[in-house]
Amino acid sequence: MKATAIANANVALIKYWGKRNEELILPFNSNIGITCDGLTTRTTVEFSTKYNSYKDHQIIINDEEFNRDEKNVQGQLDRIAGIAGVELKAKVVSETNFPVAAGLASSTSGFAALTLAACEALGLKYSPRDLSILVRQGSGSATRSVMGGFVLWNKGIKPDGTDSFAEELFDKHYWPEFRIIATILNTKKKSIASRAGMSQTVQTCPYFNSWVTSTEIDLLNMRKAINNKNFKLLGETAEFNALKMHATMIASKPAIIYWNSSTINIINMVYKMRAAGIEIYFTIDAGPNVKILCLKKDEIQITKVLKSLKEVIGTISCSLGDGVRLTSEHLF
Ligand code: PMV
Repeated sequence: MKATAIANANVALIKYWGKRNEELILPFNSNIGITCDGLTTRTTVEFSTKYNSYKDHQIIINDEEFNRDEKNVQGQLDRIAGIAGVELKAKVVSETNFPVAAGLASSTSGFAALTLAACEALGLKYSPRDLSILVRQGSGSATRSVMGGFVLWNKGIKPDGTDSFAEELFDKHYWPEFRIIATILNTKKKSIASRAGMSQTVQTCPYFNSWVTSTEIDLLNMRKAINNKNFKLLGETAEFNALKMHATMIASKPAIIYWNSSTINIINMVYKMRAAGIEIYFTIDAGPNVKILCLKKDEIQITKVLKSLKEVIGTISCSLGDGVRLTSEHLF
């Protein structure tokens, strides 16, 4: 009845922004992300037993009672209990080693770990592909955290979502020099959750269709870049795609601007270092924090420059990591 899982956050290089089906969480675009070894969530789930009976789901994240996106977490627990044919409530304790809900992809590792731990606690066994379909119904981008390394989330075309799953393109050993450095600028929770922001963008951004069609081209370029380990093409494509995603948010009504002045300062720092000949690119998700894409040879120098900026509270340097997995080290 109790199980624990560990998952790493998956940061998108080609973004998912917009659902063709909100209920089943089906994206307009296939997207690609990297599972990062340094951004980790561990989650223990225990469903009621005759010794411990829970009247409602109890969710504790980083020692705090959870009160944001609670419905999505509870919904996922109820979904899994429903599949197992029980009506039990659960206690969930989760720990992450990075700020939650600040645009650092915490929902990816969070929902992947929650789903695997809850399934295991109720004796449900899934293949990684089928697990990714179940994770997807809790949080879209978390689909990718089921696998390690470079991960593709296939958009699928079927209305029931059975062909919208994650696929490992290359595992964590594929590109040992690859680095992604998460900069922590502002640990405050974001003002608008990505779920609401995404829905508003689909409904009100006049460029939304262009985002969808042009992302198909970015996806092809990204696959080519990864296949050939072409870091320049990877970085340029990731930046282009991230900035286009933010452009759709800014052009929605009312405008959604996740950036702050620190975000712009880091972007300028990246441009400056690139002009000086360093291979450095960035990507940004639904929050002000910037993730730096670079190679091992430049990691120390880039980290030093980042840490010298007054707005940078911390950095987390990541290589490619593993997909979600079980552990016997429970949190309670
Ligand atoms: O899955 P959500 O609702 O947390 O949305 C995530 C969206 C982005 O992080 C902005 C992009 C992505 O593909 O991860």
